[in-house]
Amino acid sequence: MTVRAGILGATGAVGQRLIQLLDPHPNFEIVALTASESSAGNQYRDVAKWRIDTPIPESVADITVGKTAPEAVPDDVDIIFSSLPSGIGETVEPQFCEEGYIVSSNSSNHRTDDDVPLTIPEVNGDHLGIIEVQRENRGWDGALVKNPNCSTITMVPPLAALDAAFDIDRVTVSTLQAVSGAGYDGVSSMEIIDNAIPHIGGEEAKMETESKKLLGSFDGSTIDWHGARVDASCNRIPTLDGHLENVWIDTAESVTVEEATEALESYPSSPLPSSPEQLIHVFEQPERPQPRLDRNRENGMSISVGGLQETKGGLQFNCLAHNTMRGAAGASVLNGELLLEEGYL
Ligand SMILES: NC(=O)c1ccc[n+]([C@@H]2O[C@H](COP(=O)([O-])OP(=O)(O)OC[C@H]3O[C@@H](n4cnc5c(N)ncnc54)[C@H](OP(=O)(O)O)[C@@H]3O)[C@@H](O)[C@H]2O)c1
Repeated sequence: MTVRAGILGATGAVGQRLIQLLDPHPNFEIVALTASESSAGNQYRDVAKWRIDTPIPESVADITVGKTAPEAVPDDVDIIFSSLPSGIGETVEPQFCEEGYIVSSNSSNHRTDDDVPLTIPEVNGDHLGIIEVQRENRGWDGALVKNPNCSTITMVPPLAALDAAFDIDRVTVSTLQAVSGAGYDGVSSMEIIDNAIPHIGGEEAKMETESKKLLGSFDGSTIDWHGARVDASCNRIPTLDGHLENVWIDTAESVTVEEATEALESYPSSPLPSSPEQLIHVFEQPERPQPRLDRNRENGMSISVGGLQETKGGLQFNCLAHNTMRGAAGASVLNGELLLEEGYL
């Protein structure tokens, strides 16, 4: 089955990754691209500053970029992938849902709303069921589905695997985040070369809240957030792609490195086309994972873990994911695949 797809914010860092992942894709076909007023009306190849190391797909290069509004997108588009700045998406994405579109979005707006599914298909795909509540609450024929922040998505699959086996009470995380996470205009070279910035606005709160919603349980009508305490400290460093994170967890059950490795490596992936064969890969070498060496594992969709060590209360480890693939565009595409699999498209 071919599903007609539109991309909002198609010229940006995540929008370009969405195009790379969707052209070609076994289920989706790109038929509409939108961006800001300054790009609208021009051919994609002329306004997208293409920065990906594969060429712009010919099939999208000549598409005329539209305005980011429901009336500018053809009615027969079945799914909208949104990579809009959060403030813009907050207003515009619900307008698309009101007009009947299904929106799979990267933007941080509405992620923690009670009736909005925030999903990583391999971890909490069942939360998609809250769409029925959302439609009833909001009177939408469409639906809004979110994927988490890129730093959150890096640590949550390992946390889910360890929580299932050992019951996590507390999480402390410190991040080393790549510059692409801030978008193309996010961090200037003068700020970041030869430097590290120990603050990313709003990022810590996102990690602390979104992770608890993702690890929560869904009873068919409400999502019960996980009760663990989560504390995050977020840092920008001069890598291009790939967020590396140092994580400490306290667990109710005692845990050894061998048991943790088994729990992580056996945590199931999903059969969706963009899911990796093995969701979590564990390194024994203490110096891995590293962004440059490990971010592209399984097309940038798997999570790498290393540095496992027992601590007094639980465990310490490092984890890494590609922030614009697994952490953004790939996460939205996976949610789109889940929506299709579950019959919403
Ligand atoms: N980068 C990451 O690793 C990452 C990870 C997870 C989530 N996210 C989230 O994904 C979203 C996009 O991030 P990004 O890094 O791709 O940003 P970006 O590179 O700055 O791209 C922003 C996109 O939105 C468009 N846009 C800007 N202002 C607009 C307006 N007023 N109306 C309509 N379109 C507008 C831009 O179009 P023009 O080219 O015409 O300006 C561009 O296509 C953000 O919400 C971000 O927080 C990013």
